[in-house]
Amino acid sequence: MNALFRSCLVACTALVLVAGAARAEPEPAALVDQQHCMFCHTRDAPFLAPSFQQIAERYRNVPNAQFMLEHKLRLGGKAHWGDMAMPLPGDRGGPLSAEDAHTLVQWVLSQ
Ligand code: HEC
Repeated sequence: MNALFRSCLVACTALVLVAGAARAEPEPAALVDQQHCMFCHTRDAPFLAPSFQQIAERYRNVPNAQFMLEHKLRLGGKAHWGDMAMPLPGDRGGPLSAEDAHTLVQWVLSQ
C-alpha cells in the first residue's frame, strides 16, 4: 500500500466518522411550515400522527427508507401506521419538489 493511498484512506475514514457523528440535521423550518408538518406531527410525542422520533426509529435500519419516504411524501402511498394515510402535498400547502422531499425526509430520519 503506498503512502498516498494510505493517507487518503485515513482522511476518508475520518470524514465518514465525522459525517456519521453529526446525525441531527438542522430543521428545514420554512418547508416544515409551508407543508404544515407540525399540524399533525410532533418531534417526540405521537399526536394525530406518529412522532418524527418514532418514524426515525422504525426506519433506522431499513434499506431504501429514505427513497420510499420521499416518494410517499410527494405522491402518497399506503398507510404504514394506522388507517389514516398522509394527505398529499396539494392538501398540505403546495407542491413539493423532489429536492425538498429529500431534505424533509433526511431531517425526519435524523430525529
Ligand atoms: C394532516 C396530517 C399530516 C400532515 C400535515 C403531515 N403528516 Fe406525516 N403522517 C400523517 C399520518 C396520519 C401518518 C401515518 C401514515 C401511515 O400510517 O403511513 C404520517 C406519516 C408520516 C411519515 C412516515 C410514513 C411511513 O410510510 O411510515 C413521514 C416520514 C411523515 N409523515 C412526514 C411528514 C412530513 C415531513 C410532513 C410535512 C411535509 C408531514 N408528514 C405532514 C399525517 C400528517
